[in-house]
Amino acid sequence: MKRLENRVAVVTGSSSGIGQTIAQKLAEEGAHLVIDYIGHREGADETLRMVQAAGAKGIIVQADVSKLDAVKELIDQGWSAFGSVDILVNNAGMEKRAAFVDVTEEEYDQVLAVNLKGPFFLTQVFVQRLRSAKKSGRIINISSVHEDMAFPNFSTYCASKGGVRMLMRDLAVELGPEGFTVNNVAPGAIVTPINKSLLDDKPKLNALLANIPLGRLGTTDDVANLVAFLASDEAAYVNGATYTIDGGLSRSYHEQ
Ligand SMILES: NC(=O)c1ccc[n+]([C@@H]2O[C@H](COP(=O)([O-])OP(=O)(O)OC[C@H]3O[C@@H](n4cnc5c(N)ncnc54)[C@H](O)[C@@H]3O)[C@@H](O)[C@H]2O)c1
Repeated sequence: MKRLENRVAVVTGSSSGIGQTIAQKLAEEGAHLVIDYIGHREGADETLRMVQAAGAKGIIVQADVSKLDAVKELIDQGWSAFGSVDILVNNAGMEKRAAFVDVTEEEYDQVLAVNLKGPFFLTQVFVQRLRSAKKSGRIINISSVHEDMAFPNFSTYCASKGGVRMLMRDLAVELGPEGFTVNNVAPGAIVTPINKSLLDDKPKLNALLANIPLGRLGTTDDVANLVAFLASDEAAYVNGATYTIDGGLSRSYHEQ
């Protein structure tokens, strides 16, 4: 028996990067998948092929996580297709570089809407549906080491991911009595499209690598393996935790 046999998982932003590999991994573990995307249909199609190749079923739903109507529709479609949605992975995210003094209201609203408002209301809808079916579920947020560590020129990103840290802690306590578990996975530097400018800048990349004790960037598989564990029965007693996955980056300090 596979670890997630007959479970149903929603993974937001799963047409690329970490979300795509999480969808693939959960499917390999036996789960059926609701693949959420915005604006990149070919990526979502590719994720569906990966899910099916793993022997699982999947549906694709276009849903902007920052819109309440869209997240309701996302959960509704999962229930219609599979009769339940048991695992929620809040993965969709974005970042915008700007010095704090230059951040516009529009940039602030956009980053906070995707990274914090999205997980907030999607989790609310996810819980409402399960609660009315007298069931519980697993909530896993892909936050970032920047839920804790400073990241100059990314104040909106830090504010959003820090918010996700406290949201997770609060919900772990508020929803725990009903059997839900809520945890964060906080990646360091992982090879994905979100990091394109860093990956293309060799001197910057080498400076970063020098600070990673394991001497390499993370892969999407590294992150997805951890998410699969947190979604499984093996992690039944894990609640209210952030799992940092950064090769030791956030513990690394060097005297010059
Ligand atoms: N790659 C890293 O080094 C790293 C490090 C720490 C945290 N993270 C986090 O991991 C998550 C995944 O990022 P990634 O690195 O795979 O990059 P990515 O850009 O490939 O993935 C982000 C996904 O979110 C989707 N998305 C953006 N806005 C959306 C919206 N409004 N509605 C629905 N989907 C939306 C994008 O289309 C994309 O598929 C993000 O939350 C990111 O903050 C990434």
